[in-house]
Amino acid sequence: MSNNSEEQITQNVLDSMAHAPAPRLKQVMSSLVSHIHTFIREVELTQEEWALGIQFLTRTGHMCDEKRQEFILLSDITGVTMLVDGVNHRLPDRATESTIFGPFYREGAPELPMGATISKDGRGEPVVVTGRVLSTERTSIPGALLDVWETDENGLYEQQDPEQPEMNLRGKFRTGSDGRYCFVGIKPVSYAIPDDGPVGQLLRTLGRHPFRPAHIHLLISAGGFAPVTTHLFVKGDPYLGSDAVFGTKDSLVVDFTRHDSEEEAAQYQVTMPFYRVEYDFVLKPLGPTGGA
Ligand code: BEZ
Ligand code: FE
Repeated sequence: MSNNSEEQITQNVLDSMAHAPAPRLKQVMSSLVSHIHTFIREVELTQEEWALGIQFLTRTGHMCDEKRQEFILLSDITGVTMLVDGVNHRLPDRATESTIFGPFYREGAPELPMGATISKDGRGEPVVVTGRVLSTERTSIPGALLDVWETDENGLYEQQDPEQPEMNLRGKFRTGSDGRYCFVGIKPVSYAIPDDGPVGQLLRTLGRHPFRPAHIHLLISAGGFAPVTTHLFVKGDPYLGSDAVFGTKDSLVVDFTRHDSEEEAAQYQVTMPFYRVEYDFVLKPLGPTGGA
């Protein structure tokens, strides 16, 4: 393989990995190299474009630390994160669909009693979220855990905003013996993903906006079932068709119905006006080996 001509170089790189001890790594790297070479031939990448790409990736790397992961953001805005999620969560029709995890989850949110609010600053319009956690056989799952997080009404997560109390708008809830859950959040707002770095620049250069449609994040788990990382999106949000990270799924778009009744507000101990959402989450049982 001494002749690395344009015609021969792809095969030479593939041959160089012939004795790779890890078969999966060999498969992944061979496919990646083949696709990158095909891409370069297809667009006839110029050396200036290659250098720009390297500079972009270098800036992306420099933007990463324990608090900021610009490479994941790049994966998000190119649809890679959601495609990896999709190929790894081919669920039966009835199970709740998964979506993007995002960078704003925090471990250690407090477990709160049924019906409690996750708002610690009282901002925003309350939403009472109720429903059941069910198995794909439609039986209720008692003791399932819902770990919930969302932004404040200013579109910022608690760790992005020094004005918000610690663990604001985060909480864990357990289903009762009938599989039902209830928590109070705030009606979510659409917000921009972090766009002050190279990924934001790329979005602008591509004529794209950085917004996500309003959503509440949920991570739902129960013993013997595959956990699901998901969202509830607000029907009617203007960004549902152009989520900057391609996280939307039709089955997760729900009505946030407005309520103005004082009696109902008192029943849920919320201020008026408030919103209601009813949604059943469906988990897939784990197989005998513990896999989904
Ligand atoms: C989020 O929904 O929190 C999120 C997801 C991907 C990138 C940035 C934010
Ligand atoms: Fe989010």
